[in-house]
Amino acid sequence: MTSATSLFSPIEADLCLLVENLKQLVGAKHPILYAAAEHLFGARGKRLRPAIVLLISRATMPEQDITSKHRRLAEITEMIHTASLVHDDVVDESELRRGVPTVHSSFGNRVAVLAGDFLFAQSSWYLANLDNLTVVKLLSEVIMDLAEGEIQQGLNRFDTDLSIEAYLEKSYYKTASLIANSSKSAGLLSGVSAEMADNLYHYGRDLGLAFQIVDDILDFTGSIDSLGKPAGSDLKSGNLTAPVLYALEEKPYLEVLIEREFAQQGDLEQAIALVKDGHGIERSRELAAKHAQSAAQFISVLPPSESRQVLIELTDYVLSRLH
Ligand code: IPE
Ligand code: IPE
Ligand code: MG
Ligand code: MG
Repeated sequence: MTSATSLFSPIEADLCLLVENLKQLVGAKHPILYAAAEHLFGARGKRLRPAIVLLISRATMPEQDITSKHRRLAEITEMIHTASLVHDDVVDESELRRGVPTVHSSFGNRVAVLAGDFLFAQSSWYLANLDNLTVVKLLSEVIMDLAEGEIQQGLNRFDTDLSIEAYLEKSYYKTASLIANSSKSAGLLSGVSAEMADNLYHYGRDLGLAFQIVDDILDFTGSIDSLGKPAGSDLKSGNLTAPVLYALEEKPYLEVLIEREFAQQGDLEQAIALVKDGHGIERSRELAAKHAQSAAQFISVLPPSESRQVLIELTDYVLSRLH
């Protein structure tokens, strides 16, 4: 986490302004939502997505300052992300997020569902007001993709036949789509060529996939203190991620444990031990590294700048979270 903060030092002032604006934008109308928003935007989120939008904005506007539309896009991106987390935590029944109790555990499910909806609705409104139809289409698709990803994940719980391809597709919907399409949108607001916009999309896509794979590894290897959220919950809830899918290839007994949904005492602990014992974690790390390298190649087509350098270093940062 410290390394993300230091990486973002060139845009630290931009990010502080962003958090202040988000609190204003979201909190203006309803005290209870203000309380939820304070809670969310004041807590220790990594602000990875708005940072990427701001860095791409700067890297594609080398001669001029970024515009208020670039800033608004960064705010919308974090709003959409936060809305998806509020709902994800209801679905996953998670108690902790960003080091603080989740909205549903503090205020109840009703408020959490409403707060998530409200954030999505607000983001759509601010999005429409960017007056850029292409960007509106890209980010509306993201909101559809997020729902698609949650639904796919919900339908595939405890399905040991899930392929790595299906897992990556779900990860695209849940995580990479937002980073890909907001990266592309930042470039479009700067007036980049269609070809450059495509490179920005693929940078976000590969970085997002690497990020999700790493998050899924950390669910096995990380601690509550380092993550700000509980570890070890994906497998328990039947969400089979890369480390498990690889482990299933070499540990047939894992399939038995998952198929009976860890019904017997000690099943879950045994399953986690089987995943950690094989090559699943290592192979997942290699998969994440492959996507991170690909992201670095896509972003290297931008003209050299301090911001481009940070965007390249971000591809290493994503993997470094594993150390
Ligand atoms: C959490 O995203 C959801 C995933 C895609 C793994 P982050 O890890 O970026 O969450 P915050 O914004 O820092 O809390
Ligand atoms: C990412 O998935 C959440 C969304 C993008 C909606 P996870 O379920 O892996 O996120 P965490 O682990 O709860 O942060
Ligand atoms: Mg979750
Ligand atoms: Mg996770």
